Amino acid sequence: MKANLTLHREFSIGETDKRIFGSFIEHLGRAVYTGIYEPEHPEADSSGFRNDVAHLVKELGVSLVRYPGGNFVSGYNWEDGVGPLEKRPMRLDLAWNTKESNRIGTNEFAQWAKKINAGVMMAVNLGTRGPEAAGNLVEYCNFEGGTYWSDLRRSHGVSRPHGFKLWCLGNEMDGPWQINCRSADEYGKIAAETAKLMKRIDPSIELAACGSSYPAMPSFGSWEETVLDHVYDYADYISLHMYFANKENDTPNFLGRSLEMDSFIKTTAGICDLVKAKKKSKKTVQLSFDEWNVWYHSNDADTKIEKWTEAPPLLEDIYNMEDALAAGCMIITLLKNADRVKIACLAQLVNVIAPIMTQKGGPSWRQTIFYPFMEASRWGRGTVLRCPVKVDCYDSTEYSDVPYLETVAVYNKEKGEITIFAVNRNLEEVLELEAEIAGFGDPVLLEHRTLYHRDLKACNSAREETVKPAVQQGGKLEGKSGAKQLELVLPPASWNVIRLGGQNQ
Ligand code: AHR
Repeated sequence: MKANLTLHREFSIGETDKRIFGSFIEHLGRAVYTGIYEPEHPEADSSGFRNDVAHLVKELGVSLVRYPGGNFVSGYNWEDGVGPLEKRPMRLDLAWNTKESNRIGTNEFAQWAKKINAGVMMAVNLGTRGPEAAGNLVEYCNFEGGTYWSDLRRSHGVSRPHGFKLWCLGNEMDGPWQINCRSADEYGKIAAETAKLMKRIDPSIELAACGSSYPAMPSFGSWEETVLDHVYDYADYISLHMYFANKENDTPNFLGRSLEMDSFIKTTAGICDLVKAKKKSKKTVQLSFDEWNVWYHSNDADTKIEKWTEAPPLLEDIYNMEDALAAGCMIITLLKNADRVKIACLAQLVNVIAPIMTQKGGPSWRQTIFYPFMEASRWGRGTVLRCPVKVDCYDSTEYSDVPYLETVAVYNKEKGEITIFAVNRNLEEVLELEAEIAGFGDPVLLEHRTLYHRDLKACNSAREETVKPAVQQGGKLEGKSGAKQLELVLPPASWNVIRLGGQNQ
């Protein structure tokens, strides 16, 4: 099968916001305890954080971490997680039916985020709590000193404010599974009042309001419009969440789901602009895709987990080759919408539906989905370029006209590099790719990396990294400066990173 694409320096969609390479740590399962934090582990630092895990998180290239939930936040008292450890209460976590020791809380998490060089996206509880608790948390975290909550932080040994810039106004408040879920009108009102208060305390913060938990929610669309009617003047982003599953073992359909993600993004952006027009506002509300991933492998195992235990192995999906392709399609979709998606979080980061896994007292290791994220974070920063493609399409069980090639390119002017990210969705055949590369001077082909395994169900483990990138030979980049032709072959069912650059771009 053949594919033709055109790449031109002027085909700009927008700049990558580095915050789209975000991830998520929730107090859930083994994400925190025996994930990022395990004081008894031989690799633990003096604060109990695992150096091996921090090392992998840095390798992954995570720019931002959302915390502390997720569903967990809707029943969380942030005050339980600050101050002397011996006074922190053991609580029931009613979101996940577990016990929470509160050994890690806001200050420890901020310390860990510094260790891995990432920003923090804090979430406030709009389930069981409301504006007052959220305002107090902003004062505790971001106010210099001389007030009750800021001085409390100082008394806890944190003299400088954390200065968290990005905050979520609750989590998935449209979902019946959420602790104290609300109607769009109820949520819109409390979100607006909470936002007002938080921004009075720190006007420099940015806020994300809850959008729909997934596009198939019956209220999707009307939820966004009603919530934004209330919160438009105070919120900077609306959130989107989406998880893919392949329960029916229908891989062509599974890989087509990114078309639905694309339309979810475009529809949500349209609703933001509708409310902007209704309000005659000059401000554009942007999108925060703060939960995305594949999630289904652990569903059955999770029903067998004993209730009210501490840090049980919940949501421990083991990802395979085709999951890495789905994750790759999702990342390309986020990049293709760089003009509207300014924040995105791979959900989650360690052990819980995660690219990084740990064994208690043992090693940490990379799942298959680690690689598309890592490579996009490393080479996907710059100007995102639309790549018009000519390629055959297929119809799957739920989607029509799914192109066999999913692709986008990013031009990094400072480095003089152009990177094409591409997924060959054809499960049987190679794609012979021909690309016209115009307007970039005289680049050379630096590298063609592929993630490929003939067995789509192949997984990695602590013992063996079966699925990992390899450098592919045989590509050609020829022609004269300013108009070059690229030819290379994409293996069937593969994720590809094609790097061009090196000379006068
Ligand atoms: O990421 C796992 C869960 O998925 C989060 O807690 C929730 O927000 C979503 O439903």
